[in-house]
Amino acid sequence: MAEVRLTGVSKFYGAAQALHTISLTVADGEFAVFVGPSGCGKSTLLRSIAGLEEISDGAIHIGDRDVTRAAPSERDVAMVFQSYALYPHMTVRENMDFGMKVNNFPEADRKRRIADAARILQLEPYLDRKPAHLSGGQRQRVAIGRAIVKEPKVFLFDEPLSNLDAKLRVQMRVELEALHRDLKATMVYVTHDQVEAMTMADKIVVLNAGRIEQVGPPMELYNRPASEFVAGFIGAPSMNFLPVRMQDGQAVVDGVALGVAPAATVKLGIRPEHVVLRPEGQGQIGAMVTICETLGGDAYLYVRLAGGETLVVRAEGDTTLDHGKLVGLDFPQSRLHHFAADGRTLSSGGIAA
Ligand SMILES: Nc1ncnc2c1ncn2[C@@H]1O[C@H](COP(=O)(O)OP(=O)(O)O)[C@@H](O)[C@H]1O
Ligand SMILES: [Mg+2]
Repeated sequence: MAEVRLTGVSKFYGAAQALHTISLTVADGEFAVFVGPSGCGKSTLLRSIAGLEEISDGAIHIGDRDVTRAAPSERDVAMVFQSYALYPHMTVRENMDFGMKVNNFPEADRKRRIADAARILQLEPYLDRKPAHLSGGQRQRVAIGRAIVKEPKVFLFDEPLSNLDAKLRVQMRVELEALHRDLKATMVYVTHDQVEAMTMADKIVVLNAGRIEQVGPPMELYNRPASEFVAGFIGAPSMNFLPVRMQDGQAVVDGVALGVAPAATVKLGIRPEHVVLRPEGQGQIGAMVTICETLGGDAYLYVRLAGGETLVVRAEGDTTLDHGKLVGLDFPQSRLHHFAADGRTLSSGGIAA
């Protein structure tokens, strides 16, 4: 087991810079999730840790070893890819055994490791099957088994669940969390799915265009996002953003003063679950319902303010409000986020950033 330490890591592809001086420590035994939109550099960063990409500048330590220039096989890491990359002509057992066999592991050791992995992943009934005769979830488990048998210091996952259907994805997510709990290994997990990031991570690293936007535990990013980018990325449905005019120290939206805000505020943010729905004529600001989506447990109301801004409001699951219905909204001061013109957060819940 080991910590992963990145110091000033940059990566160029020709003239294009994919990573900008990334410094970051993933603690021993931690589950870190790299999250961000497509093309922001998540895979490049993960592959750099694995040694599959040579970095242009900076250093990478795993445990107390400088592995910046070490070959992938010398880094004591195991990587699981989205594509599974199983050998189709080999059985599950042979797929897990292959890497150990070519590295001349003793047979008794190989058997023990395969038995352990098969038990952990509930693959025992399938050891003699070939990948073509497995479901998507089982194939992904074999790919994870191949990583487990290496007994690596660090597990690296690159969007391992994105080829699975929604139900299986949730199931595998829970299994991976259990795996982390049982193995207590350092894990670095890449996803573009903010729900996976929120639910699995000890620590989330939000990347944007090759730079770290913010690093922290999920609820810290949720409650105190450092920027509009993080505020909009973490949380589902996304935070509502409304343009603000500052007047007498108050944030004014549509002519309605919505409380004290920092002088440089140009935008206000509030999550759908924090807007309070009131009857027509009550609340701080009036709105008109455009769509009411009832999901069973929750309902999401899409509403429009007088000035034309739209926002999403989470309501009770049995809410049914037709298009055109008028409602009131309250924006509790303790739930407001204020943003500057450059996207920085100025305050969250009345506390300066
Ligand atoms: N082998 C490559 N050659 C050139 N550019 C690449 C290569 N791999 C990735 N990139 C570029 O680096 C950036 C980051 O890519 P990537 O790490 O794959 O993003 P993500 O995994 O977050 O979707 C993108 O702009 C991508 O086009
Ligand atoms: Mg990627």
